[in-house]
Amino acid sequence: MKMKITLHLLLLSCLFSSSPLVSGVGNFTRDDFPAGFIFGAGTSAYQVEGAAFEDGRTPSIWDTYAYIGMYGGANGDVACDQYHKYKEDVRLMSETNLEAYRFSISWSRLIPNGRGPVNEKGLQYYNNLIDELISHGIEPHVTLSHSDLPQALEDEYQGWVNRKIVEDFTAYADECFKAFGDRVVHWTTLNEPNVFIMGGYDEGFLPPMHCSYIYCPSGNSSTEPYIAGHYMLLAHASAVNLYRTKYQPTQHGTIGFNMYTYGLAPYSNSTEDLAAVERLRAFYIGWLINPLIFGDYPDIMKNIVGTRLPVFTEDEANQVKGSADFIGLNHYTTITIKDRDNSSKNAIMSFSNDIGVSVIFPDNAPPGQFPVLPEGLYNVLEHFKQFYGNPPIYIHENGQQMIRNGTLNDTPRVEYFQAFIGTVLDAIRNGSNTIGYFAWTLLDGLELLSGYKSGFGLYYVDLDDKERSRYPKYSQHWYAKFLQKNRAVI
Ligand code: NOJ
Repeated sequence: MKMKITLHLLLLSCLFSSSPLVSGVGNFTRDDFPAGFIFGAGTSAYQVEGAAFEDGRTPSIWDTYAYIGMYGGANGDVACDQYHKYKEDVRLMSETNLEAYRFSISWSRLIPNGRGPVNEKGLQYYNNLIDELISHGIEPHVTLSHSDLPQALEDEYQGWVNRKIVEDFTAYADECFKAFGDRVVHWTTLNEPNVFIMGGYDEGFLPPMHCSYIYCPSGNSSTEPYIAGHYMLLAHASAVNLYRTKYQPTQHGTIGFNMYTYGLAPYSNSTEDLAAVERLRAFYIGWLINPLIFGDYPDIMKNIVGTRLPVFTEDEANQVKGSADFIGLNHYTTITIKDRDNSSKNAIMSFSNDIGVSVIFPDNAPPGQFPVLPEGLYNVLEHFKQFYGNPPIYIHENGQQMIRNGTLNDTPRVEYFQAFIGTVLDAIRNGSNTIGYFAWTLLDGLELLSGYKSGFGLYYVDLDDKERSRYPKYSQHWYAKFLQKNRAVI
């Protein structure tokens, strides 16, 4: 049975859909991956750190979102308390044989209010975490902004929809490169801006909740998504330019961009449905990746969005083009795309309605889980190889969501990892330049869409326990074994 949903319900629907098809499972070992390939796990600041009001941190737009009740009263005030338990967490990473840890810096912890002096306590925390990782032989991979813009900048000038953000983001990045760049050599500017913008500026169901619909206090779904995307690209490029001129020559690191991707399948082979897939691909991926690789937005978008789509000056285009040393991909599942007739569009002009597709999401699997369709990731990697000239790719996020019920038996997650990691290997063998894989996520933290109702963690975190004790799930054992030196064939 299939469930039809429109695009704007797509992300929410991910929580309740799944199919147990597992493919891509074969016999492989960690050693089958090329030299230099890195395996790790990830988190983000607001989802795990806690200590939301400690040592000078100020709220981000994600705190505000939680505080107005979007998680039914739950929030990241304590979360997994990684701020106090980072040493234990690094030990757990080490027990999992992780080679790398992807985490994000809380901008409003390092620079309270978004601009101005650096908070010494924030600096100390990230220095400690980085040192602890390195002393355990774990590479830090750092994201500068993971959906947690300082609320002060949102209040002052509406954050990402104001050009002022470019300067403030660059100044924040500068502090990060200066303070941590002697030990951090893997930087990502922004986490999945495509989803952040669609959720935050088109449909308004994610922070900062801007949209044209009645439930958003402010916003404009027909223009702001494009404006936010434009300033994010300029902010990214400006930070990269700074890194390349001021830091890269001595620090020798790399800096990249991150995007959320779906596997895309046409509903039918009709011309309309095939065109709908291409439209969605242009709006989801081409929108932000074409400028990074080719220096401009996709023609499909220009034709549909017209004057609402900002235009790059020649200087801007040159700065944006080539500004990613790598692309990080967050990938979970595959969706089926059907053309949506213009006449059925609702009256509101919006990013989603510009795309004009219906999304059909398989729902034949346990509640809360993603359909396990690894060939979708294979196709995405092929697309990056063939269309974008095969840039270095990290799989920055991949993992199975499950309802958070305390069980440590997460066999579906093990099956999911096995299927997707096997597919990554297949893609590499077919020429993909994928250079790393990060399981999402180390700990059951505050989930973006569902709060604490679901989790992706290798470790269960007991929220009823003041100590926030961590318990390894089956998937932790599996991943640890997979990554063990002298490992056996899986
Ligand atoms: C993407 C986001 O980056 C992350 O914050 C979220 O927890 C996962 N996807 C799973 O929804």
